[in-house]
Amino acid sequence: MARLDISPSRVILASLLALAASPALAFYFPGTAPTSYKEGDVVPLYVNRLTPADSQYDPKLRSVFSFDYYHEPFKFCQPEGGPKEIRESLGSILFGDRIQTSPFELRMGINETCKGLCVGRYEPSDAVFVNNRVYQGYDLNWLIDGLPAAQLLKDPNTEEPFYSPGFALGQIGDDSPELNNHYDIVIDYHEASANNYRVVGVLVDPYSLRDSKIDGNGKAQCGSADSPVVLNENEANVVTFTYDVYWRLSATPFATRWDNYLHIYDPKIHWFSLVNSAVIVVFLVAMVSTILVRTLKKDIARYNRLDQFVLEDFGENDEVEDGVAEDSGWKLVHGDVFRSPKNPLLLSVLVGNGAQLFAMTALTIAFALLGFLSPSNRGALGTVIIIFYTLFGFVGGYVSARTYKFFHGESWKLCFICTPVALPGLVFAIFFLLNLFVWGRGASGAVPFTTMLVIILIWFIISVPLSVTGSWLGFKQAAIEPPVRTNQIPRQIPPAGGYLRPLPSMALAGVLPFGAIFVELYFIMNSIWFSKVYYMFGFLFLCFGLMIITAAAVTVLMIYFLLCAENYHWPWRSFTTAGASAGYVFASCLLYWIKDGSWTSWTSGVVYLGYSALLSSLVFVLTGTIGFFASWLFVMKIYRSIKVD
Ligand SMILES: *[C@@H]1O[C@H](CO)[C@@H](O)[C@H](O)[C@H]1NC(C)=O
Repeated sequence: MARLDISPSRVILASLLALAASPALAFYFPGTAPTSYKEGDVVPLYVNRLTPADSQYDPKLRSVFSFDYYHEPFKFCQPEGGPKEIRESLGSILFGDRIQTSPFELRMGINETCKGLCVGRYEPSDAVFVNNRVYQGYDLNWLIDGLPAAQLLKDPNTEEPFYSPGFALGQIGDDSPELNNHYDIVIDYHEASANNYRVVGVLVDPYSLRDSKIDGNGKAQCGSADSPVVLNENEANVVTFTYDVYWRLSATPFATRWDNYLHIYDPKIHWFSLVNSAVIVVFLVAMVSTILVRTLKKDIARYNRLDQFVLEDFGENDEVEDGVAEDSGWKLVHGDVFRSPKNPLLLSVLVGNGAQLFAMTALTIAFALLGFLSPSNRGALGTVIIIFYTLFGFVGGYVSARTYKFFHGESWKLCFICTPVALPGLVFAIFFLLNLFVWGRGASGAVPFTTMLVIILIWFIISVPLSVTGSWLGFKQAAIEPPVRTNQIPRQIPPAGGYLRPLPSMALAGVLPFGAIFVELYFIMNSIWFSKVYYMFGFLFLCFGLMIITAAAVTVLMIYFLLCAENYHWPWRSFTTAGASAGYVFASCLLYWIKDGSWTSWTSGVVYLGYSALLSSLVFVLTGTIGFFASWLFVMKIYRSIKVD
């Protein structure tokens, strides 16, 4: 008879999979409260920066810079009295949003055709600039009632239509770049109650019409789409901007208005990668537990039996038994395994920062998974990351201090100071340098100076004191006692070859945690470089969990082999072994560059490489910390179980 096998791990796996499926299908809270409009009410249209986009025809990343909508050479029409900045959250600004008012006049429920905006005059230098941006495939980003203006696209696999935020600045037709100067704005609105309307969808169809005109009375005439605007780079050009507005009654309620936008291109690939890494994890965990349970038990029993034996027959079989007992294995290094590593300060600081990063990442993903970081809450993700990172300064300080104490560190002041400075300092330095490049290009992706100042203040006033307090508490606690005493004289380490050498062991072990996250990493990079919303937090959550387990398991395995080879330098080794997955992350960034990137300006390349290096160093600290703590626990556990006289 077939037995129904319901092991707890299966139940957990099944519920995790169920959990992943729901957020993958766009689970979120509507976020902001709905705004209702009466018929004829003005619905404001805000403009955001221009971003490089992946067009369907040419999915290449050609630039990493974004531009302010009112960047001079674009000559876009400004509202009377000049554009005004819309206030935004810190996270939103950090992630590049620059939202401003516009001259468009949209009235709820009232259709308009061919409304004139203004006339733009392009000097040859402006024409060169705009044509280059068209070649690079830039997108315009507008916001109407918090919804991004989108293009209607079809999923190439399922033919299912969906809204893709952003629409083209221009297109390449007959080998020449055409600038779009007319916009068909189609707004879906929902009637919540009588004469009480809400915006639930925005589509924009851009056109290039050379023969549009605005006459003396401000009346506009739209040209035909057969003759597009091509800016001549040798003489001045005049372009008339116009727009249409169409209001379409929709059955979509406000609460689900984001559903059309959150489209998952290829859910299969996420599932595939998830199952793939789950298999690796099951395999690894099985291997580690076999070693832990079987081999270790046997080792421990043998060691302890031999001890007894040696004691009982002391004097007779002394030499023989000693020879057997001292043959090989991890027990031999018991007098050295808790010897302080080289540079304990650096390791403690890294581990403290890693713990802080880990706490922040885990909580942010959990928050996102619960639907708190809905895409309608612009910048919520960035803001939450900053808040959590700041608050977890406490954890960083505490962990760093306790680790340092365990390693008998003595430069306490340095430890207190370096922990809150190290990683934020590195991040800030890279960030600042890259920003200089972006400023130099006159692009607007650069973070404003005031925002930088605010971030430094938050860090200095909240994060640093928290970290120092944490360090102080950790310092006050009794040191963690190692289970075995450390000998005076360090033991010779026999030379080991093969995969136990540092580089091969890193290359071998680092690939597995990377394997757990690389598909999600690809999507995250896509969303960073093409400024798309990332919302597959269900998958990310599972991948993150798998990554933790893989990193821990593979490092423990490596450290076990290392100790068996009588090499006791586990602290740094565990950190670098697990951290090596960062090398793979960097390599995958380079691969992404080769595959999806194609740009001529070297500044784009520098900025891209800079951010890739930043991402990789964060991954290094994060995974390294996971590996280190897993190994620490493991080493404490196995040496506690043997008897040493
Ligand atoms: C506005 O245009 C849309 C789309 O063409 C149409 O469905 C709708 O009936 C029009 N509304 C009015 C008031 O004419």
